[in-house]
Amino acid sequence: MSSTAHGAPLSRIGVLTGGGDAPGLNAVIRAVVKSATHVNCEVIGLEDSFDGLLEADRWRKLTPRDVTGILRIGGTILGTANRGNPLGVPIKTTSGSRDYSERCVEVFHALKLDALIVIGGDGTLAIAYEFHKRGIPLVGVPKTIDNDIVETTNTFGFDTAVSFATDAIDRLHTTAEAHHRVMVVEVMGRNAGWIALYAGVAGGADVILIPEIPFDLEKVAHSIRGRDAYGARFSIVVAAEGAMPVGGSVSVLKAASGEYAERLGGIGGRIMAELERLTGKECRTVVLGHLQRGGSPTSFDRLLATRFGARAMELVLERRFGHMVAFHPPDIVAVPLEKVVGRTRNVPLDFDVIRAARAMGISLGD
Ligand code: F6P
Repeated sequence: MSSTAHGAPLSRIGVLTGGGDAPGLNAVIRAVVKSATHVNCEVIGLEDSFDGLLEADRWRKLTPRDVTGILRIGGTILGTANRGNPLGVPIKTTSGSRDYSERCVEVFHALKLDALIVIGGDGTLAIAYEFHKRGIPLVGVPKTIDNDIVETTNTFGFDTAVSFATDAIDRLHTTAEAHHRVMVVEVMGRNAGWIALYAGVAGGADVILIPEIPFDLEKVAHSIRGRDAYGARFSIVVAAEGAMPVGGSVSVLKAASGEYAERLGGIGGRIMAELERLTGKECRTVVLGHLQRGGSPTSFDRLLATRFGARAMELVLERRFGHMVAFHPPDIVAVPLEKVVGRTRNVPLDFDVIRAARAMGISLGD
């Protein structure tokens, strides 16, 4: 049991992972369990995001033994759910049809939890904020490969996704060059262009299309023709899934329905067809998709995730609830959740990486 200067002893906390998985989730769970155990606080792992609070049997005790060896493993040992916002949705439980949030609060107390650590992206953190307002003492940890959470320079998972996409672009270079083709690589990122921009610059792409800069394919075709003119008869186009043409709209893979948010996808295929028409060159498209979310976290993500987990436990002990841990290099700080929810961190147009890309002759489609 851990006593702090700020109140009664803490003996039991819960931890859950929500939203799309990202490499580093297990590293955070490990850090929470190890640092909690260090101060004699028990950790309860809740399964499948907040759904783990729907029934009193969807949890398990996590000891250091349970988290041994998971630092380098992708996914999450707790499972996750990416359904959007379940709050206010009636659900069937063993005690009849119930309001989702009321049921979660009830089970939180039934499990005798003193606090909750919620590891998730903007959607999960928004739900966490609602539970905080309903009296659940909790601390958030920002995760997402998209890197689109405000008030933190980095989320864990992003660096791993960028490394994977960069490697894919490297591999596509050789086949593109051999066949004198245009390869269009569609990457994830939702409505933010971080993955496309970072992987595109790191991989030496010739065109990078991001949601923050609507594109004109005539201008893209012009830059591809320019490369042909100086003898580089292939081009690599990296397109964020949320990229869109000037005056157009995003490509939607699956429309929003019920509590499920819209899923983006398909822009790579559209760009490929149009560039083939405009340039007369053979074009192909590759969608990196969920491969970007798999695999072992990079050392950067392991370190960030470990720091986030350890700091989240410190905030719990300090009873600084309703906060999210955040990376403000070189420090891990606490940011109120209310400053985070409902906002998206987009690539600033005056960002030096944008300027560097332009200086390299990369077309941003504008
Ligand atoms: O937020 C992470 C992310 O991988 C986005 O880049 C992508 O748009 C979305 O999740 C896909 O979600 P799902 O795996 O639930 O279809």
